[in-house]
Amino acid sequence: MGAESGGNMAERDLAVAILAAGKGTRMRSQLPKVLHKLGSLSLIERLLRTVLTLKPQRCLVIVGYGQEQVRRALQEYPVEFVEQAQQLGTGHAVQQLLPVLEDFQGDLLVVNGDVPLLRAETLQALLERHRQVQPDVTLLSAQVADPYGYGRVFCDAQQRILELVEERDCTPAQRQNRRINSGVYCFHWPALARVLPSLDRNNAQQEYYLTDAVKLLEKAIALDAEDPREIVGINDRRQLAQAHQILQERLKEAWMEAGVTFVDPDSVSLEETVELAPDVVIEPQTHLRGPCRIGPRTRLGPGSWIESSTIGSDCHILYSVVSHSQIGNHVWVGPYAHVRPHSQIGDGCRIGNFVEIKNAQIGSHTNAAHLAYLGDAKLGSQVNIGAGTVIANYDGQQKHFTEIGDRSKTGANSVLVAPLKVGSDVTIAAGSTIPARYPVPDDCLVIARAYPVVKPGWRPGSAAAGRPQPLPTGSLRVYPLRLLPGQDLKQELERFARQQPLQAGFVLSAVGSLSQATLRLADQTEDYLLSERLEILALSGSLCPDGVHLHLAVADAQGRTWGGHLRPGCLIYTTAEIVLADSLEYRFSRQPDPATGYLELHIEKVAEATPPSPQRADGTGVGIPSCPP
Ligand code: UD1
Ligand code: CA
Repeated sequence: MGAESGGNMAERDLAVAILAAGKGTRMRSQLPKVLHKLGSLSLIERLLRTVLTLKPQRCLVIVGYGQEQVRRALQEYPVEFVEQAQQLGTGHAVQQLLPVLEDFQGDLLVVNGDVPLLRAETLQALLERHRQVQPDVTLLSAQVADPYGYGRVFCDAQQRILELVEERDCTPAQRQNRRINSGVYCFHWPALARVLPSLDRNNAQQEYYLTDAVKLLEKAIALDAEDPREIVGINDRRQLAQAHQILQERLKEAWMEAGVTFVDPDSVSLEETVELAPDVVIEPQTHLRGPCRIGPRTRLGPGSWIESSTIGSDCHILYSVVSHSQIGNHVWVGPYAHVRPHSQIGDGCRIGNFVEIKNAQIGSHTNAAHLAYLGDAKLGSQVNIGAGTVIANYDGQQKHFTEIGDRSKTGANSVLVAPLKVGSDVTIAAGSTIPARYPVPDDCLVIARAYPVVKPGWRPGSAAAGRPQPLPTGSLRVYPLRLLPGQDLKQELERFARQQPLQAGFVLSAVGSLSQATLRLADQTEDYLLSERLEILALSGSLCPDGVHLHLAVADAQGRTWGGHLRPGCLIYTTAEIVLADSLEYRFSRQPDPATGYLELHIEKVAEATPPSPQRADGTGVGIPSCPP
């Protein structure tokens, strides 16, 4: 031991060196190993935060592979970077400190950058032991179940290090030793500085080993870490997962100690940034991320994700997602609710199933119990949001804001188009869409809905039955009829209907003039004779083999009009052109209708109709040649 060791060792300066220059080949990653994340923090950030609690005079980070990235990731931390241009081993890394710590007389804590779970207490204990025993180096060792991959430490009964062998350089017998080197050491720097230049690369990896420096020092002792889980070094993804699990166990154990119940701890994950009050209950499959504060007696989960949020006391968050929001006391959320960022939910609210809230301030004792979207809004207290209420906050370009006053109620399926201000004590009727900027003052009822149409006697199918069925192309036969002066309109049509094999005949058009007309007007039992010249305005109706049923409308020269049943006694004046049509797919007949007591038109679809070939009857009927359907 050097002369300086005679002084008050506890007063010796402390510097820390973190070895972070390696690539971490076994991670199989582009990212430098120390920048891989364990929870929310990178490996090196975790370690750095721990070592900084020791308040070292200097904190040196040795960088090499991907050093730009590492320097950037740590720019917020009070550290100095030392470059190791070529990575020739842990011993070579520490050799880079020789010029940097030239005049340094204190202790140097060397920590591998890949040991993220080290606890400050453990480092404290290492320092204390080092200061108490005053060796050249105190090495942090641990007894582990699976020593694979680590250097093995061999000590005597006084914990003096006799031998230190890397895994690859071990004999099979040496490999059986479960005491390992954690990669954390407290050196008396002047002693280390003396031996560093004499390292060689005569080993399996052809690297300069820092462990060789330990062996070169006169007085080297080991101290076992109390909990071997904390010294796990991350070399590959398997160890990263293992560290993740250890970290989770550690956090949950601490919270259980502090009075938190985990119903199924293994299915829950959280971060150090989470603060849980006593009597919080965490149900299975629940995950907390980022800075979260959960109040007493609040129950989270099962199946919830809480991120960077504050939740008060006596709440229950069931199968829901809450992120970057604040929730008061006695609030029920879920199942299946989504509280999106920048939401504040007051005390005693109930946010029920399938409710999404975004950037909304919600007053106390307000309920949105089912199926709603409330985005960019401010709701008062004791508001009731009906099922299916949607705030339409986005017009396709911009988000707009909605305000709803205290004690107002939105009916089921209301749409509030933003921007909108709804007063207090308002009731919005179910199914209402309130347009943007529509004034809705305090204390009113708003109804904005389509009213129902009731069709008496309607039955399923009746609508379809009354609906005209399109016929296949070419299935109509068309007959132009030319009537001559003195001919009786009704008689001619009846004759035509008898002579032609008409199945479903009707009038397509009728043009002509009459010298007189006989009509049965509505409500009359007698025929009415109009004995003047008349123009046919319209002729409509059906022609069946069993008779015709036609209506005629006529006008005189003064424009007076009459309409009624066509009766015999309508005589053609100059001429009349009537176009009749006949459908082959249907049959018209006149059948008594029990409802009216009259003979009414009966329409029947003709099954497998074989179209009768078009005929010419006294030169008047012309069938239209048809294409096959
Ligand atoms: C090292 C120890 C081993 C110990 C284990 C604990 C040596 C020779 N071996 O092995 O006894 O059990 O840690 O985890 O020290 N690094 C550099 N520059 C380099 C090489 C490495 O900065 O040239 C850094 C790495 O980035 C890493 C740390 O040093 O953060 C450890 O390197 P690593 O290759 O992981 O060493 P191990 O093989 O794990
Ligand atoms: Ca390692």
